[in-house]
Amino acid sequence: MKIHKYERKYKREKFDCGKKPLNNYIQKNATKDVKTGACTCFIVKNDEDEVIGYYTLSTESIPIEDAPEQFQKKIKYQYVPVILLGRLALDKNHFGKGLGKLLLVDSLKRSLDVATNHVGAVAVIVDPIDEEAEHYYLKYGFTLLPDSGRMFMSMKTIETAFNKS
Ligand SMILES: CC(C)(COP(=O)(O)OP(=O)(O)OC[C@H]1O[C@@H](n2cnc3c(N)ncnc32)[C@H](O)[C@@H]1OP(=O)(O)O)[C@@H](O)C(=O)NCCC(=O)NCCS
Repeated sequence: MKIHKYERKYKREKFDCGKKPLNNYIQKNATKDVKTGACTCFIVKNDEDEVIGYYTLSTESIPIEDAPEQFQKKIKYQYVPVILLGRLALDKNHFGKGLGKLLLVDSLKRSLDVATNHVGAVAVIVDPIDEEAEHYYLKYGFTLLPDSGRMFMSMKTIETAFNKS
């Protein structure tokens, strides 16, 4: 299954991942955010050009005191640059086929490429929408950052994972 850059022409009205904010986002807000550069969005689609899954990426920074301890020792700035995997969702009809994993792995690979070759970032962070999403990200090795509810995976961890596979 190929991953495409989001374009307005793709059909989104029937997209249903079971979580309203994530349905609304792809149906109503993605076009504007991509157009203004607030994020990039990547999708998987079926032969009818209907979006069946998507994720978004943007740059973000977190206060140094929110970062894991090993970064606090090494980085002397007030804020740490990271990449935010803002949203990740799949249509319900396609759960359990490995497509979520495909999107997640692609987002991490793309983030690693950006951080290595283009724009510095020490980690990918996510904002899990609920407890279920938190479990999903925990399963893939994200760790919870204290207080913020956000989750963190360092570029070093991502690089090591891809070098092993
Ligand atoms: C999260 C989501 C993208 C996963 O997609 P999916 O294609 O069903 O998941 P995959 O088939 O890639 O599953 C990969 C693995 O994660 C597991 N998994 C799926 N959902 C999980 C959850 N909530 N908690 C823990 N593990 C989970 C699967 O069992 C599978 O395990 P395996 O590789 O050992 O068989 C999809 O369920 C979804 O869109 N949910 C609604 C939106 C959402 O919650 N997004 C989260 C980000 S805010």
